[in-house]
Amino acid sequence: MRIARHIKKLVGYVPGEQPKSREVVKLNTNENPYPPSPKCAAVLSSFNLDNLRRYPDPNCSALAKAIAEANGTTPDRVFIGNGSDEILALAARVFVENDESIGSLDPSYSLYKTLAAIRDVKWVGVPSPSLSLPPSCSLFLWTNPNAPTGEFAEPKAIATFAKRFRGVVIVDEAYADFACGNCMSLAAASRNRNVIVMRTFSKSYSLAGLRVGYCVGPKDLIAALYKAKDSYNVDAVAQAVALVAFRDCAYHGKTVAKVVKTRKAFSQSLVKRGWDVIPSESNFVFAKPPAKAKAKDVFAYLKGRDIFVRYFPGRLTGDRLRITIGTDGQMETLLAALDDRFRGEEKTRKTNKTKPRKQPPGK
Ligand SMILES: Cc1ncc(COP(=O)(O)O)c(C=O)c1O
Repeated sequence: MRIARHIKKLVGYVPGEQPKSREVVKLNTNENPYPPSPKCAAVLSSFNLDNLRRYPDPNCSALAKAIAEANGTTPDRVFIGNGSDEILALAARVFVENDESIGSLDPSYSLYKTLAAIRDVKWVGVPSPSLSLPPSCSLFLWTNPNAPTGEFAEPKAIATFAKRFRGVVIVDEAYADFACGNCMSLAAASRNRNVIVMRTFSKSYSLAGLRVGYCVGPKDLIAALYKAKDSYNVDAVAQAVALVAFRDCAYHGKTVAKVVKTRKAFSQSLVKRGWDVIPSESNFVFAKPPAKAKAKDVFAYLKGRDIFVRYFPGRLTGDRLRITIGTDGQMETLLAALDDRFRGEEKTRKTNKTKPRKQPPGK
C-alpha cells in the first residue's frame, strides 16, 4: 500500500478527549455548557424526512443570505463550511503553493501546524506577527481571541498587519462572541483585498455536534474556496438548524452573557487561590497553578475526579491548564476539587516545616 511520504511521518492532530460518560465535568474542548436555542429542537422535530432523499443546497443559500445581511454584506462574500476546520483545510489548499508556507501565532490552535504538514508545506509560528515572517508565508492564521491563551488583539493591529502582508490573512474568530471586539467590519469592507474573518457555530451557539462554520471575505477569495470544496459540504439538517440558531439573537446573547459572567467570577476565584490567570476574552482561561504544583499533575488529579480540563505539553504551554468555562455549578465543583488538592499540599508543606530536619550523616 502506497502512502505519501509526508503523511507517513505525520503526527495527526489530537482532539480533546470526548469521554463516553455524561457524568463527568467536561471543561476540555471549549464547548458551550448551555443547550442550543430551543428553536433548534423545533426544527429537528418537524424536519421533513423526505428532504433527506435529495442532496442539500450546495451553496447554503438561506444561511449565507442571513449571515450576509447580519454583517451588511452580500452572500457572494460568505462561505459556509462543515465546521470552521473544513474552511481551514480548504484555505491550506487554495491559498498556498507547494513552495510557500503557512504562518500563525505560537502558541495557537495546534491544528494549523497539522494542516501545513498534511499539505506538505512549512508552518511558521511567531509570538507576534509584527516579527518578521519569511517571504514564503502566503497564508497567516490569526486566532483572535487566541487559543489557548484567551488573549485579544486589537482589530487595528490586525488591519495594519494585513495591509503589509502580501498573502491572505484568516482571522479565526471562533471565540469572538465572548470578546470585547472583532474584525468582521474589516472583512466585510469593499476595499478589503486579503482579510477573511472566520466564525463557528460550535462555541457561542452551542452546536459543536452540528459541524457548521462560516467565513466572510473578498469575493475572489470566497469564490476560490467554493471551487475547491466538496459539492455538498454542509448537510440539509445542519443548514436548517444553524439558520434558526443564527436568527435567535436574543437567546444567543443571553447564553454568551452567562458564559462571560462566569468567566470573570471564575478567573477571580483562581487568582484568589494563587493561580496566574491570563486575562481572557474567550470561553476558557489559560492558568498556571500556584506554588510548585505542576500543571500536568493537576490535570491528572482532576481527571481522577472526573473533571476534564486540557493540558498541552510543550515549552510555551506546559506550565498551564486550559479550562473551559462551564456552568457556575461546574466551576464550583472544579474549585472544590482544587481546594482539596491544594489543602493536601499545604498540609504536607506545614508538616514538613515542623518536622525536625534529619542531620546528614557525619555532621
Ligand atoms: C481557534 C479555533 N478555530 C477553529 C476551531 C474549530 O471549530 P469548528 O468546530 O467550527 O470546526 C476551534 C475548535 O476548537 C478553535 O479552537
